[in-house]
Amino acid sequence: MTPRHFLFMVCQSGAENALKNEVTRRHPTFRFSFSRPGFVTFATPEDMARDRRFQPNCTFTRTWGYSLGKVNGTDPQQLVAETWALLVSRFPKDVLSQFRHLHVWERDADVPGENGFEPGISVLADEMGELLLAARPDIGQEWPLVLNEDAAEGDRVLDCVLVEPGEWWVGWHRANRIETRWPGGVPEIDVPSDMVSRTFLKTAEALKWSEFRLTPIDQAIEIGSAPGGSCQALLLAGLDVVGVDPAEMDPLVVENPRFKHVRGKAKDLKRSVFSDARWLLADASVAPNYTLDTVEAIVTHEKVEVEGLILTMKLTSWELADEIPLFNKRIRGWGYDKVRSRQLAFNRQEFCIVASKDPKSLIDWKEAESQFGFRLPTAEENAMIDALRRNPAAVPEVEELESEITDEDADLELDDELADDELEDDEDDSEDDGDESTSATKSE
Ligand SMILES: C[S@@+](CC[C@H](N)C(=O)[O-])C[C@H]1O[C@@H](n2cnc3c(N)ncnc32)[C@H](O)[C@@H]1O
Repeated sequence: MTPRHFLFMVCQSGAENALKNEVTRRHPTFRFSFSRPGFVTFATPEDMARDRRFQPNCTFTRTWGYSLGKVNGTDPQQLVAETWALLVSRFPKDVLSQFRHLHVWERDADVPGENGFEPGISVLADEMGELLLAARPDIGQEWPLVLNEDAAEGDRVLDCVLVEPGEWWVGWHRANRIETRWPGGVPEIDVPSDMVSRTFLKTAEALKWSEFRLTPIDQAIEIGSAPGGSCQALLLAGLDVVGVDPAEMDPLVVENPRFKHVRGKAKDLKRSVFSDARWLLADASVAPNYTLDTVEAIVTHEKVEVEGLILTMKLTSWELADEIPLFNKRIRGWGYDKVRSRQLAFNRQEFCIVASKDPKSLIDWKEAESQFGFRLPTAEENAMIDALRRNPAAVPEVEELESEITDEDADLELDDELADDELEDDEDDSEDDGDESTSATKSE
């Protein structure tokens, strides 16, 4: 029998069907296995963990990992003991020692914003995480494992999801993308005591997830800005902000000297309103195509040079989720080469698209050359710039740089691969365990 491997995916409570449809479309060989609101597992025919770059690339996946199965217990001590027993059975000690992070969280109890619920690490998850950390096995060496902290890019993370009171799901992942660096896929946000509205949370998350390089001199414009939670997040990020909305803004936002309210509907405004904006946000509570029509009319205008977009796309019906690839394609057609979509942890029945242009593409080089004597970098200079970007510590003496990269990087790469082989071999040894635990729950 072909061994089976499993992935778990975390999503908003209620978004499971949208996630399943998306996974079926993107990964036709994956088989839906076990699910609870906000937590879904899939059997995969191949060991996806072997491919270090594998990403599910699904809008409704808040975060994800490789599932090792579930543990059951009637009390926390038993669950903790079972969790470590499972992990120790899957990873030898030297491989276990490579995990620097332990992420422990509960699946969402409700839709974000409903009944006082907001995603994040609950008190219970923190308490159970502390118990797990305290009970970690002796691996014969110092093991600096930390609980529920953001992982660094590329770190390996042990995951424990509290799915039911007596049922925890155990897994691991590589923190390759920003959302997988956050415990449970939820960023930590400093919430001001005078938060204008919960939209603050989703914009604060979108700013982190976009990884846009915001600088305090930048101007951001938001279409659909009232009452102003989102503008509050942009102002706190240090930006100059223009809010476009026919409705009243909260006085707290209006009083900020870096804020300007343009009263009206975006389509009725002169394009010059948008000519200084580097970042454009839209959160207008209208159907996705209406949002896209409005934004297209702005960003394709010759006097507008918006580098990055953050668009809240309202899912007026869940069926619209099937059209996400078309929305993304349309935005690419406006010259935004990097387009990503994700249902943010703090989104409700909506998702977020972030899109960006290479800032170099916004410069009219011919104009710059004639006016200031600039010229485009040559191919060689571009290669050097790219090498420096990858390794900023490098000295730009090309010959030296090349020989250093050859020797040192080759060693580093080898070490890393050895480590990975160890990890993967061990997983192979114990595939059946994962199979059993997941198939056992399939019938539930
Ligand atoms: C969900 S609310 C926005 C919340 C806001 N982003 C915040 O952070 O508080 C939607 C807003 O979009 C506005 N709106 C709807 N259509 C619009 C349009 N075409 N141009 C500008 N604003 C619009 C509405 O007046 C409403 O205030």
